[in-house]
Amino acid sequence: MTVPAGPPTVRRLLPLVTGLAVACSAGPAAGPAPRAAINPAWRYDDSVRVASGSSAVVASGNIIASQVGLDVLRRGGNAVDAAVAVGFAMAVVDPEAGNIGGGGFMLIRLNDGSVHFLDYREQAPGRATRDMFLDSAGHATGQSQVGHLASATPGTVLGLAEAHRQFGKRPWAELVDPAVRLARDGFVVDQKRSRSIRGDSAKIARFPVSAAIFLPGGRVPSPGDTLVQADLARTLEAIRDRGADGFYKGWVAESLAAEMRRGGGLIDLDDLERYRVIWRAPISFRYREHVIYGAPPVSSGGLTMGMMFNVLGGWPRVPPFGSAELLHLEVETMRRAYMLRNSTIADPAFVDVPDQRLLSVALADSLRASINLARATPTLSGDNVAGTGSTTHFSVVDADGNAVANTTTINDLFGSGVTVSGAGFLMNDIMDDFTTAPGRENSWGLIQGEVNAIAPYKRPLSSMSPTIVLGPDGRLLMVLGSRGGATIITQVYHVVANVIDHRMRLADAVAMPRAHHQALPDAIRADKDGFLAPVLDTLRAMGHEVRVANPGGDVEAIMREDGTWHGVSDPRSGGGSVGY
Ligand code: DON
Repeated sequence: MTVPAGPPTVRRLLPLVTGLAVACSAGPAAGPAPRAAINPAWRYDDSVRVASGSSAVVASGNIIASQVGLDVLRRGGNAVDAAVAVGFAMAVVDPEAGNIGGGGFMLIRLNDGSVHFLDYREQAPGRATRDMFLDSAGHATGQSQVGHLASATPGTVLGLAEAHRQFGKRPWAELVDPAVRLARDGFVVDQKRSRSIRGDSAKIARFPVSAAIFLPGGRVPSPGDTLVQADLARTLEAIRDRGADGFYKGWVAESLAAEMRRGGGLIDLDDLERYRVIWRAPISFRYREHVIYGAPPVSSGGLTMGMMFNVLGGWPRVPPFGSAELLHLEVETMRRAYMLRNSTIADPAFVDVPDQRLLSVALADSLRASINLARATPTLSGDNVAGTGSTTHFSVVDADGNAVANTTTINDLFGSGVTVSGAGFLMNDIMDDFTTAPGRENSWGLIQGEVNAIAPYKRPLSSMSPTIVLGPDGRLLMVLGSRGGATIITQVYHVVANVIDHRMRLADAVAMPRAHHQALPDAIRADKDGFLAPVLDTLRAMGHEVRVANPGGDVEAIMREDGTWHGVSDPRSGGGSVGY
C-alpha cells in the first residue's frame, strides 16, 4: 500500500464546453412537479421526505450512518471528516453495500472553489488474466460474480484514509470509532436491511462465514433485531488504531490473503501492499449556465453524463417533463452516449481515453444530428434486465460550504458473498465490471468492449457518478449520486435535468419517475407506474421497446433551496437525510 506524495489533486479542469449553452435559465422559479404529466398510480412523491439544515446536511442510504456524519459535523468536523465517518458506519449498518472490502470514488468541492476527485476503485490482482473467467470452451464461468475469484484488491480503507490525510480536521480515531461501536454493540436492523438479507439469503448461505454473521441462528434477522458483527469490530479497531496499515498490513491483510488462498481467489499480500489511490482531475462541463463536476475515468459517469448534457443542451428548450417527445430525445441521447461509453472508456493507465473528443462540441453536434426526432434508431439486439446491486452513495455539505459526494460499491448485493474469516467484512465482486468475455452482459446488462478487458493491476470501468452542480451564480447548488449499476448515470442525469430544465424542487426531482437506455439491450427501461400509458404507447409507436421495471436506484442528494440546505434520500430506497 502506498500513498502518493505531493499535491492532493490536479486542479486543472478539462476545458468547459461552452458552445452549447443556451439561454434557457430565465424560466420561472422552482415549483412543484407537473403531477398531471405522470401516472396517477405513481406513489413515490407522496413518501419523499426532506431534511433541512441552515448549516449542514448529510444524505445517505441509512439514517444511522447519516446521524454519525451529523454528529461529526456538530463537533466541528468538516464534510470530509463526516464522509469518512459515514463511510465506515455504512460498512457496518448497510452490509449489502457499505463496505471496507470494495472501492469507490469521492468528489470533493471545498469552499475555496477547488474541486478534487479521489479514485479508490478496486484493482485487479497481479495474477489476474484476460480470460480468467472463461472455461476451456470459451464460455463465461460465472465466477466473476460469486466466490473468491470475483474480488479485486479493495480500495475503500486507503481511500477514506487518504481523503482524511489531505482534508480532514478531526482525529482519525474519532471518525472510525462510531463504526467500531456499531459493529461491536450491534445495530437495530430495519425493514430494508432485513428484506435485503432475505433477498440474498441463498447466496449468503453458500458461504459459512457470511451465514454465521448475516443469518445468525440460521435465520434472517427480523426488523428490530440487533445485529452484532464482532469480527468486523476488531478489524475496524485495527483501522482506527493503525490507520490504513491496520487493513493493508498485519493480521487483517493476512486474514484476507488466507481467505483468498482457501477459496481460490487471487488477492495476495503483494496486491495489498501495492494498492494505491489516485487523485484525478474531475470532469467538468457546462449545462445551461450551470457547471457540473463529475467522475473521470475509470468511471464512465462524468464523460457519459457530459455527452448527454452536451447533446441535450443544443436544443434551446427541451419538451415538457413526462412527454413522449422528451423521453424520446433523452433515450436516444442515452443510447448514443452509452455506445461510446462501452467502446472507448476504461482505465486511463491502460488505454487512451478520448476524453476531450467525448466532451467536444463537434461530437455533441453530430450525435444530435443523428437523432431521428420521429423514430427510434435501433442498436443491435440484446436481452437482459439489470440486476440489483451493492453500491451506496452519500452526500455531505458542511457549515463552511465544503461538499463531498461519495459513491462506494462491492458491486452485486453482498458482493461476492465471501466474508473474510476472522475479519468479518464482505468482499467485492468487482471483477465482473471488466469485459470478462466478448459480447457477455455483465451484472448490469452492459456489453463492454476490448478496452475494458482484464489485465493485472487494471481497474474495471465503472458507472458510479458522484456529481456536484454549481448554480448560474457559481455557488454550490447540488451534491448527489446514486446506486444502480449502469443506471446510475441516467438517474443522476434525471435529477439534475429535473432541477435545471423542469424547475423542480429537489424532493420532486428525486421522486419523479425515470427512464433509462444503455444502447444494449435496445430497450427503454421505465419506472413501473411512472409515466402515462399513452406516453409509453407513443414511444412504442416510434419504434422503441419499452420495458417497465420496479423503480430502482437510491439517489442521495443535497441542494440549496430558499437559502438553506435540503437533503433528500430517494423514496425508492431505505436511506435517510439529516441536517442542522
Ligand atoms: O462501478 C460500477 O459501475 C458498478 N459496480 C456499480 C454497481 C451498483 O451500482 C450496484 N448498486 N446498485
